[in-house]
Amino acid sequence: MEQPLFRHNKPGRSVTFDEYRAEGGFVALAKAMQGLSPDQVQQAVIDSGMRGRGGAGFPTGKKWSFVPRNLPGPRWLICNCDEMEPGTYKDRVLLEANPYSLLEGMVLACYAIGVRHAFIFIRRGYEQAAANLRRGVAECLQAGLLGENILGSSFSCDIDVHVSAGRYICGEETALMNALEGKRANPRSKPPFPAVKGLWGGPTVVNNAESLANVPGIIANGPEWFKGLARTPEAAGMKLFCISGHVAKTGCFELPLGMPLGEIIEGPCGGMRPGSRFKACLPGGASTPFFTEEHLHIPMDFDPVAKAGSRLGTGGIVVFDQDTCMVAATLNLTRFYARESCGWCTPCREGLPYVNHVLETIEAGKGSEEHITILREHVKLLNNAFCALAPGAMGPVDGLLRHFMDELREHIVKGRCPCKKDLCQN
Ligand SMILES: Cc1cc2nc3c(=O)[nH]c(=O)nc-3n(C[C@H](O)[C@H](O)[C@H](O)COP(=O)(O)O)c2cc1C
Ligand code: SF4
Repeated sequence: MEQPLFRHNKPGRSVTFDEYRAEGGFVALAKAMQGLSPDQVQQAVIDSGMRGRGGAGFPTGKKWSFVPRNLPGPRWLICNCDEMEPGTYKDRVLLEANPYSLLEGMVLACYAIGVRHAFIFIRRGYEQAAANLRRGVAECLQAGLLGENILGSSFSCDIDVHVSAGRYICGEETALMNALEGKRANPRSKPPFPAVKGLWGGPTVVNNAESLANVPGIIANGPEWFKGLARTPEAAGMKLFCISGHVAKTGCFELPLGMPLGEIIEGPCGGMRPGSRFKACLPGGASTPFFTEEHLHIPMDFDPVAKAGSRLGTGGIVVFDQDTCMVAATLNLTRFYARESCGWCTPCREGLPYVNHVLETIEAGKGSEEHITILREHVKLLNNAFCALAPGAMGPVDGLLRHFMDELREHIVKGRCPCKKDLCQN
């Protein structure tokens, strides 16, 4: 199985600049600088069918094409490496092992969009990844792969590494731009969309680190190669799935998009832990509705997962076994979201702490049927908040209501959490 992103990985350390280059790194950049126009680079990414790996799954090349070519003034590229969603750690694993695919992908993206200056917005705790990126930027400058007249061409481009001050909302692309401008990280209203009016009012593309790191492979090997990596004809490329929870082997694996959920658990994860049976999972990070046993056959690709009632999201799969209290698991997530609401709009600022309170009440065995109605209403209500944090926060609550109603009611009828005490911490 080809692993375009992990193929350079070395056990226990990061790949060096010389190793990356010797293993075919920067071939795509040389190919573009020597003979491809910006439009050809963009077209290859469009033709590859790659969809963004940051959560929403928007087609990457199409996003680039929204940037108006005729506006005066600078335009910007931002790599989103904030990655603060619980259960998602793929960008950290990617960049701790290899910063160069991302840097090469960013230069290619800048070339396609016409960007002179790009930023990497990285989570504060990702010290090793940030150090790798800074070292990589210096090495690329030294080798003429960044800076003025890249590889002797007329194209020049610089990349800055910016460390986030550290809140989950900073990963939302418009809040991220405010943070980068030194303002409070509240989301902006859309339209205007960032492609037209973004960072400092200029056209801006925000892409996830994994999305950008895939670009060199597409340029070096062609769009058809990329498409062919996936398991199903509708999917395109490989995906970093980071798996945690009650499986035998947790970790970040580069797997074909479209691989069924059950196969991911039985294959790379080595099945469930001894004594554990699969009960449920978050299929795509903490803001996605739960999947259950009935979903194990679902191909892990954007559309099939959405059709089955959840989202592929970031590819952060969190697996729960038969002893997990799903109310407590959901409550654990709503605590995070209530704390991370930026407070800008009322439904989210007031609603998330209230949802958290309702779940705490049910988990403590003091809930009533009315509390279930309140949860249902809030799933609908919070869909209309100002940004995607609030609907995402309600993803697991929505899944709880759809798949674990018996368990919710058992808390109410028994007047206590029905799980074994030593397993349920709430
Ligand atoms: C609250 C919130 C947090 C987010 N955090 C991240 C993040 O850490 N990394 C990321 O790539 N996208 C994150 N996103 C999605 C971004 O807004 C944006 O869609 C993404 O960076 C686009 O990249 P892509 O097109 O390559 O997927 C977040 C969205 C929301 C609403
Ligand atoms: S939905 Fe929440 S995070 Fe988003 S703007 Fe409103 S208060 Fe802020």
